[in-house]
Amino acid sequence: MKITVIGTGYVGLVVGTCMADMGNDVICVDVDDSKISKLKKGIPTIYEIGLEELLKKNIGENRISFTDDIRSGIQKSDVIFLAVGTPSLEDGNADLSYIEDAAREIARHINGYKVVATKSTVPVGTGKRIKKIIKQQNRDADFDVVSNPEFLREGKAIKDFMNPYRIIIGSDSEKAKRIMLSIYKSMERVGRPILITNLETAELIKYASNAMLATRISFMNQLSCLCEAVGADIKTVAIGLGQDPRIGPRFLQAGVGYGGSCFPKDVKALKARLQEEGCCSELLEAVENINSRQKLVAVEKLKKIIPDLHNKKVAVWGIAFKPNTDDIREAPSVVIIKELQKSGVKIKAFDPIAAKESKKILKNIEYAENPYDVVKGCDALIIVTEWNEFRDLDKEKVRKLMRQPIIIDGRNIYEPDDMGGFNYHGIGRGCDK
Ligand code: NAD
Ligand code: UGA
Repeated sequence: MKITVIGTGYVGLVVGTCMADMGNDVICVDVDDSKISKLKKGIPTIYEIGLEELLKKNIGENRISFTDDIRSGIQKSDVIFLAVGTPSLEDGNADLSYIEDAAREIARHINGYKVVATKSTVPVGTGKRIKKIIKQQNRDADFDVVSNPEFLREGKAIKDFMNPYRIIIGSDSEKAKRIMLSIYKSMERVGRPILITNLETAELIKYASNAMLATRISFMNQLSCLCEAVGADIKTVAIGLGQDPRIGPRFLQAGVGYGGSCFPKDVKALKARLQEEGCCSELLEAVENINSRQKLVAVEKLKKIIPDLHNKKVAVWGIAFKPNTDDIREAPSVVIIKELQKSGVKIKAFDPIAAKESKKILKNIEYAENPYDVVKGCDALIIVTEWNEFRDLDKEKVRKLMRQPIIIDGRNIYEPDDMGGFNYHGIGRGCDK
């Protein structure tokens, strides 16, 4: 199949590279020519495990190319995936201007039947809106619109794309559904379920999925407060909860809140839509409020131990919004660091790969090259991102390097019982009171 992906960011690049690896001829288009020129040389523009090898392999085998020429991208392919951003507007709704720009480009350059499939996360009704824009600009355009939401997670993006829990194909056109099924047939053969729906249902499944996962996290974060008050342990509560197959064990980790470019924006957009349609949005309102408060819990814990933080040195382990990515969009670390700086704290930070991104938005931070150097002379350590390499460090060495051995473990990577010699506090670990 000849496929074009418009928008070569996290999703577009992973989708394009994986689809090329599945044997399709893929053209990735982006308006950002600096991204395109790097990608043409096989240099990934994002950090994602396994991406560089897959990219180089498929460039070498001439299955993927990169361009800023949207016209040729549209004209040379049968299926056009939209993977442009849909960031939040002031009122919480998704900004559809990038989607609409791409739809207008398709209307201008279309040269025969095309399937236009949204990979971007778009509110219910966007598929219809894309149809209308293309038809208004070009009455002769021959095309169908499909909603094919993407469920990959950053840090596990290639694995998730290649082994999805499900594939959702929403369209009102039988022809478009058949074409989409032919793209995913190799995945169906190895048992990946495909759910065929109308456009609106597919669009809503994506928001419902992210909002449900965010709700589970806020639920656990709310319970973590009670755990601390009554001497219960949130990690064990999560295990007990998750053993019920009706609940399942995933996305029950309490911590310093969810971040990233998706949960915060998608919860906001679904909430805004519920309100617009006159439906009750209180649950999602609570999910957001709990998450905003949770990002500050680590700072509150530290202030209880050191009430005057002025001129104190605090080390931060992990800046990325989660491990295995350099993405710091909506990362809890940003809120935590800014709040500490307001109290006059001097911040030292270490992240295995996100320091470069962090330098673009966080100022007055001393960055270290490894997790030991960063704690040298510090009055406290806050663990914000659970990178694997933090789990098995020499704790005695860490303790000796610190001025005061205080650890606030925002991701519960350690067990309170193993933390002798430290003034150690996790999240919701009632046992460390
Ligand atoms: P991103 O910001 O990393 O990438 C978007 C890209 O689109 C940018 O490179 C931008 O230059 C390009 N672009 C914008 N307008 C364009 C145009 N008219 N023509 C060509 N290129 C254009 O965004 P992302 O993280 O890849 O997310 C894209 C969409 O996918 C969003 O709707 C997001 O919610 C959704 N999504 C993201 C993830 C994720 O893990 N990041 C997972 C699933 C779904
Ligand atoms: C999330 C979804 O998991 C993907 O399925 C979806 O495709 C994507 O959003 C999207 O729509 O863009 P992602 O944001 O990459 O993926 O990362 P997650 O692994 O879901 O983590 C999101 C945040 O929740 C992170 O800050 C993480 O630390 C936090 N989290 C996750 C918790 O606090 N507790 C948990 O139990 C799980």
